[in-house]
Amino acid sequence: GSADRSHQKRFSEVQKERREQAQRTVLISCPNKISEKKFLKYLSQHGPINNHFFYESYGLHAIVEFCRKESVSSLQDATYTPSTGKETAIPFRSRFFNVKLKNPSTSEKPPIQCSNQSPPSSRKLLELLCYAESIDDQLNTLLKAFQITEENAKLRHLTCSLIEDIAAAYFPYCTVRPFGSSVNSFGKLGCDLDMFLDLDETGRLHAQKTSGNFLMEFQVKNVPSERIATQKILSVLGECLDHFGPGCVGVQKILNARCPLVRFSHQASGFQCDLSTNNRIALKSSELLYIYGALDSRVRALVFSIRCWARARSLTSSIPGAWITNFSLTMMVIFFLQRRSPPVLPTLDYLKTLAGTEDKCIIEGHNCTFISDLNRIKPSGNTETLELLLKEFFEYFGNFAFNKNSINIRQGREQNKPDSSPLHIQNPFETSLNISKNVNQSQLEKFVELARESAWVLQQEDQDRPSSSYQPWGLALVLPSASNSMSLAKKKRKLPPRERIKNLLESIRSDNTEDSINTSGK
Ligand code: GTP
Ligand code: MG
Repeated sequence: GSADRSHQKRFSEVQKERREQAQRTVLISCPNKISEKKFLKYLSQHGPINNHFFYESYGLHAIVEFCRKESVSSLQDATYTPSTGKETAIPFRSRFFNVKLKNPSTSEKPPIQCSNQSPPSSRKLLELLCYAESIDDQLNTLLKAFQITEENAKLRHLTCSLIEDIAAAYFPYCTVRPFGSSVNSFGKLGCDLDMFLDLDETGRLHAQKTSGNFLMEFQVKNVPSERIATQKILSVLGECLDHFGPGCVGVQKILNARCPLVRFSHQASGFQCDLSTNNRIALKSSELLYIYGALDSRVRALVFSIRCWARARSLTSSIPGAWITNFSLTMMVIFFLQRRSPPVLPTLDYLKTLAGTEDKCIIEGHNCTFISDLNRIKPSGNTETLELLLKEFFEYFGNFAFNKNSINIRQGREQNKPDSSPLHIQNPFETSLNISKNVNQSQLEKFVELARESAWVLQQEDQDRPSSSYQPWGLALVLPSASNSMSLAKKKRKLPPRERIKNLLESIRSDNTEDSINTSGK
């Protein structure tokens, strides 16, 4: 519930700590036969190690976090640039190393323990869900299995820090910051790594003055628009990553998009990266989601399950298109939780009234002010179970008047839709924009149909979990990838055929009293 909050850090504190940690961390590609003890002993010559872990991504890798930043340069000074004779290496002083063993010993070594960086398979998920004690337990289990681990978070911040080193060759004092699901507390293992190049500090460090006789010429090169400036910056960074970025492959410049970006895959970390510039509003959205996720322990559990449900039902996709995005789904869950009585989550306008003077934030004319100290937000008095909230979520959006209403987390109530887009979710900071403008009518209808079907399926479930294990129940029944892989289940579920569900749904739809949904089809 809601009373389990101890002191929680501000978003900015977490980001600052992670960034500082990443700056004294190195990435090392290792041979499989390495001895962990010798490896650490060797590295300790450069200074004490705070922590380390190994993982697999195109071979074995280690992340080593030193206690002091100086240890990194000491290690860099002790390494050399390889030359193969056939290829020419372009030297770049990075924090990504490679260990070669001169005489790999043949003696038996204890196997290296690898930290897992991938989400569980659908089979594994099914197994976990089947063994859970209750539907509430299922949602919490799913959260634990999919959420970004401490190691994965370190790896994400390190990757940004490594990209920053490359970008800093062009833009000294720049910062590359992660945003989106890597930091908003709603990211799943395996999700992409969104990052942006922040040049604001360059200005702040060198140009406190706004007048005078001397101008910093390297910063001032005029181009016709902000968009063109962004495209030019990303274009050179794209080239730079492609030619000189250790481990950066498949660099694509997507400069004509609404939000121009460079996409690449960072092989050593295994992340698909999207680099953009100037995304301060998106960073503020990430902070807002972080606060909502930290306010009540039910929020993340519900969002993760809904995201998994949407993915399993092909409502979301990794390819951009007319489908609903995870970002929009998260907004829908937050809105739903604001609509409960009493509310599970406060409105954004309320979080704005709690803001102190240091929280004031205006970005490009948009007021992005809200409280940053989440310990000052009163916990919710709502005590509903996750099971109830999950059912009610499907019920709520299965019957939402999408044709006339807009979803608005700022006010926490439906507003009249300002335009005719099928799904309207107000951008919380750029309030004239719709974050789900891309969604077409048929994708919205699919969402509504599946929400109704899932509400119905969960309604049919006996309240107790079945005694035989390996029989999908509860949440597993609405994730078809799980209920389809029934080869390991002895018994097939006695679900009525799809046609019957459809007919039943029609009868529910034609009847507009809410109670009929609870009793029909039994
Ligand atoms: P994943 O699907 O796990 O990657 O979730 P995500 O939240 O990281 O989404 P995505 O990678 O698509 O976008 C990254 C961030 O960009 C989001 O968290 C938002 O802050 C922002 N963003 C994405 N789509 C939109 C949009 O349509 N409008 C606005 N205003 N911001 C968006
Ligand atoms: Mg993302």
